[in-house]
Amino acid sequence: MSNKAAVCIGLALFGGVATLPFWLPGARRPMPQPVLKAGLTECVESAEYMRANHMLLLDAWRNSVVREGNRRYVNAAGKPFEKSLERTCLDCHSNKAEFCDRCHQSVAVQPYCWNCHFAPGELRPAAAAMAGSPALRIAATGLSSPGGAADGR
Ligand code: HEC
Ligand code: HEC
Ligand code: HEC
Repeated sequence: MSNKAAVCIGLALFGGVATLPFWLPGARRPMPQPVLKAGLTECVESAEYMRANHMLLLDAWRNSVVREGNRRYVNAAGKPFEKSLERTCLDCHSNKAEFCDRCHQSVAVQPYCWNCHFAPGELRPAAAAMAGSPALRIAATGLSSPGGAADGR
């Protein structure tokens, strides 16, 4: 066998092993199965829609709350929700670490929302002293009051 043939076989073997995770059965689902609170059945919109569009929905919610003071969202089925990251999304998805974070880690996304917004049970050192008040929370992060361009956009 020539050197060239040996190199080709070597490369083919290496290529096969290196790409194994991509062609094994089941490998086509890159996201982990996110953990949900027991007993819940429905999101604000369908799971498929949320999986693909939750970042756009959150962005739209934020803009309409901060710029227009509109906090009411009515979903495709006619059910109303408060447009709130903390009080709506994280009320159901209270296990942020196992739900949002786990999925984001798998795709290396790090939403900066948590610089200001709080996950359930989480308190910043500065805010811990004034625990409990949503208004003070925002004060503790040094932000202007709601209504202005408070989210920095
Ligand atoms: C009333 C409870 C509830 C609220 C409020 C809620 N969710 Fe959900 N969410 C669920 C449930 C239950 C599922 C799983 C639905 C299913 O599998 O059909 C889900 C699914 C999802 C998924 C898809 C997960 C996957 O497996 O691909 C994402 C992403 C998501 N939610 C994000 C959000 C965000 C962001 C918000 C706020 C805008 C939010 N959810 C508000 C209960 C909720
Ligand atoms: C099924 C997996 C999955 C779950 C669960 C999930 N996300 Fe995401 N999220 C993604 C992916 C993938 C992106 C990046 C999409 C892109 O870049 O287009 C993303 C992006 C985002 C972004 C935009 C970040 C940026 O920098 O642009 C926000 C905000 C966000 N997610 C919030 C949440 C919140 C809040 C939860 C939990 C309530 C959550 N996500 C749960 C997969 C998920
Ligand atoms: C610089 C601080 C800051 C950052 C970073 C930030 N926000 Fe906000 N956000 C605010 C403030 C302040 C408000 C206004 C609070 C109110 O009126 O209830 C707000 C309001 C919102 C609202 C509507 C009100 C509510 O209860 O949730 C949503 C939704 C929201 N932000 C989503 C996001 C998302 C998603 C990200 C990350 C992509 C993000 N925010 C990043 C400060 C921030």
